[in-house]
Amino acid sequence: MCGIVGYIGQKNSLPLILEGLRRLEYRGYDSAGVALIDGGLTIRKKAGKVSDLVNLIGNEHLEAQLGIGHTRWATHGEPNDVNAHPHWDCNNEIAIIHNGIIENYTTLKKKLQQVGHTIRTVTDTEVLVHLIEEMYKRCNDLFTAVRLALLEVEGAYGILVISTREPDKIIAARKGSPIIIGRGDGENLVASDAAALIEHTRHVMYLEDGEVACLTRNSVVTKTIHDEEIIKQVDEITYDLEELEKGGYEHFMLKEIHEQPDSIQNSLRGRLLVNDGTVKLGGLEPVMEKLVNTNRILLTACGTSWHAALVGKIMIEQLAHIPVEVDYASEFRYRNPVLQPTDIVFVISQSGETADTMAALKEAKRKGATVLGIVNVVGSTIARGTEAGVYIHAGPEIGVASTKAFTSQLAVLGQIALLLGRKRGRLSQEVGKALAADLASIPDKVKKVFSHEAQIKYIVEEFKDVKNFLYLGRGSNFPTALEGALKLKEISYIHAEGYPAAEMKHGPIALIDENMPVVFIVPKDAIYEKVLSNMQEVKARKGRIIAIANEDDTEVEHIADFVIRVPRTYSYFGPIVNVIPLQLLAYYMAVARGCNVDQPRNLAKSVTVE
Ligand code: F6R
Repeated sequence: MCGIVGYIGQKNSLPLILEGLRRLEYRGYDSAGVALIDGGLTIRKKAGKVSDLVNLIGNEHLEAQLGIGHTRWATHGEPNDVNAHPHWDCNNEIAIIHNGIIENYTTLKKKLQQVGHTIRTVTDTEVLVHLIEEMYKRCNDLFTAVRLALLEVEGAYGILVISTREPDKIIAARKGSPIIIGRGDGENLVASDAAALIEHTRHVMYLEDGEVACLTRNSVVTKTIHDEEIIKQVDEITYDLEELEKGGYEHFMLKEIHEQPDSIQNSLRGRLLVNDGTVKLGGLEPVMEKLVNTNRILLTACGTSWHAALVGKIMIEQLAHIPVEVDYASEFRYRNPVLQPTDIVFVISQSGETADTMAALKEAKRKGATVLGIVNVVGSTIARGTEAGVYIHAGPEIGVASTKAFTSQLAVLGQIALLLGRKRGRLSQEVGKALAADLASIPDKVKKVFSHEAQIKYIVEEFKDVKNFLYLGRGSNFPTALEGALKLKEISYIHAEGYPAAEMKHGPIALIDENMPVVFIVPKDAIYEKVLSNMQEVKARKGRIIAIANEDDTEVEHIADFVIRVPRTYSYFGPIVNVIPLQLLAYYMAVARGCNVDQPRNLAKSVTVE
């Protein structure tokens, strides 16, 4: 949600910032802008994509060794040229870019207007730059002015601020929205995401909430907003630039779908001990005793990660026999949840920056539970905010629609379930071995699904003009159905609903006619026959059926109009394989409808506002 990047050094900052914005564009693409200081303040900004900003700049010769840039996901104010960031003060001296929401901006705006500030836009961000201007008058020092201004701000922010009066500094601050500083040689960079830094440096410092930094070419000074100096540790980014590129695929989403045999393998590597029928998760060692003895686990997350949590509940309850509750992180915080000190709360997040999930984490901590993370982005706020946890190691996920993070979250949840089942004596070593071997076989099974891609494209041609879709499944394939429906909605804009197959007759069956395609996820598990009956109910009402069924199934083809085959697994792990054709269906549907797959309208990769 909003990408921000800044550079101070000896090079021309503009190409560097534009390249950084291109890498961050998945965070927001409503508008883009840059502010440069070379003597005066130069601002260029434009509604639309980074490419629109590049066209606006055209051949204009802009050169500056200090600059900041922004790509916006609109919160306050429509996405037009005026509301695009950067925003500036009354005297054209200070520029700001911001990711987050200033909640008390109307009160601040009134006060500032009363003392003579002219506010040009309806954004919350512009108010903040005028507040900084006001403080700057009092102290004549940008670092201090930003700190003082932030003391009056309620809400969330990751900001960069520059001033023509101190053309050798970038001030950065964070509360709720990520800020990462990249340390270079004679240069320093700062961004909302390591993706914008990795080409220039691997040495990074993560700002924490309530911290402010002053970057010059050769130094970074960090303080709290209350003026206490702090020494930050320098960490290293471990992934490569190629992992951030499309690697010959037309879209990041397709690349990430195809990466899943590897990304799932990476989630299992060094952890799954097939010969012992168990799992080793070093990240959970410090809390293992609590975890094994707990009477209740809560899983909380948003969106696709929440769907993973729903599958995780079934895995943990079935294999480890611990009661599990699942909550939307956005609801958890506001429902005053009852938590015991012995409760374990897992927060699940790809980005590790989702504001609702972060808020749930804080609430669970405040109530005394042990809070653990299942996170993809190493060093992210959620990863650092939890007591312990497991990285899913899916690698950078750039496509806005989450794919490989989902399957890796499931691979990790499956391993946690297996580990707890073994440690609690619920699973014998023999059963543990069979389950571990099944998990280990999943990357190859996922690979096999890709052989049906041509068939999926063919099915898409049949259905690309429909307005609605239903996705039905039972047990752990009900969340799979939800995930399939979400993928279709978000990238192809076709209305889709996921339902437990047996619930269909309690309402949604009224929707079924010859225009309603229904995707059934119907593996040969304990409830297979029941799902076949549900399929018959749809067939009897002329609904058109696409079935995701096992390779050895000979019955489904007599009922379904189309059958996409998937290899068999234990039902607990089935969603990891069964979701693959659903991801491909959504992808090819979006492509066939001419939608922008990697940048679907109104969405952003990491939702850092509540
Ligand atoms: C859907 C999608 C979102 C995210 C949700 C949580 O494709 O990507 O629903 O799953 O915003 O994001 P994370 O997992 O980063 O906390």
